[in-house]
Amino acid sequence: MPQTIRRAVIPAAGLGSRLLPLTKATPKEMLPVGDRPVIEHTVRELIASGITDITIVVSGGKGLIQDHFRPNPALVAQLREAGKTGYADAVEEVGELSRAGHLTYLDQHGPYGNGTPVLNAARNFGDEPILVLWPDDVFVAEVPRAQQLVRAYEATNCPVLALMPMDRADAPRYGVPVVKEDLDGGLLRITGLVEKPTPEEAPSDYAAIGGYVITPGIVDELREQTNRWYEHRTGEVYLTDAINAYAGSRAVYGQVIQGSWYDTGNPLAYLTAQFAAALADPAYGPHLRRLAQGLGTGAPEPV
Ligand code: G1P
Repeated sequence: MPQTIRRAVIPAAGLGSRLLPLTKATPKEMLPVGDRPVIEHTVRELIASGITDITIVVSGGKGLIQDHFRPNPALVAQLREAGKTGYADAVEEVGELSRAGHLTYLDQHGPYGNGTPVLNAARNFGDEPILVLWPDDVFVAEVPRAQQLVRAYEATNCPVLALMPMDRADAPRYGVPVVKEDLDGGLLRITGLVEKPTPEEAPSDYAAIGGYVITPGIVDELREQTNRWYEHRTGEVYLTDAINAYAGSRAVYGQVIQGSWYDTGNPLAYLTAQFAAALADPAYGPHLRRLAQGLGTGAPEPV
C-alpha cells in the first residue's frame, strides 16, 4: 500500500542568476506572476493537493519569503479599521497559508547542487514519500500538478517525475527522460534522465519540469552521493543523479501533466508567464488584449 503523501519540500536557496539584475535584492521566488509571488502559487498548489507540511529550504537574503507568508494581525486590524475590508481579507488569507501548509523554513547547508536542499529537508521526514517542487514553474490546471503526481504515486507506489511535452530544440534546458513504456493516462515507465542533452541526443520529447515524488530509496542515493562528496570534495549533488542511480535497479515513472505550464526561470519565460497570467485575469485581460492588438499600429506604446 502506498503511503499518504503529506510532506513537501520547496528548494528556494538558489541565486536566480538567470534573472539578474532583477534578482539582485529580490528572491526570484518573490517575483510576481499575476497578483502574487511565484512561490505563493507553489504553496497554494501543494495545499490544494492535500499537503499539510511544507518545508521551504532557504539561504541568506531570502527573508522576504518568510515575511510574505507570516501572518500580520496588526496590518489586518489597521486595514479593517480603515474600512479596507478587501485588502484586509487578502492579507489575512495569505497569512492563513502559513498555518494550512504548516510552513517551516530550513537553511540550506552542504555541497552545491539541487539534491542538497532535498536531503536537508528529507532528514526530518523519516521514511515517508515526499513531494519536491521547484518554485520556478507555475501551472494552470484543473487538477493541480502536485495532485496529478500524488495520484501517479498512489497508482504505482514508485517515484514519479512531472513531465511536459517539449520541443526538441529546448532539450538543452531540461532533464529528458528515457522512456521504456507508455502506459495509460500519461503515465510513462522511465529508466532514467539525461540532463540537458543536445536536441539530437534527447532520448524523448518530454521535459522533466521540476516536480517529483521522492521515496526513501532516492533519499538514500542522495545521502550516498553527499557522503562521497565529503570524501572527495568535487562535483555537486544532483537530484537527477540520485534518480538515475535509483532507476538503475528499481522502477521509476513519469507523469505527463495535464494543464498549462509557465516556466519563470529565465527572462523571456518569466515575461511570458506574467503576460499570460494578466491576460487570464478578467480585470486586466480585455484591456491588455486591446493594447496588444494596437501595438505597432500607431497606438500609444505602453510605458
Ligand atoms: C533542473 C533539473 C532538470 C529539470 C529542470 C526543470 O534543472 O536538473 O532536470 O528539467 O530543473 O526546471 P535547472 O533548471 O535547475 O538547471
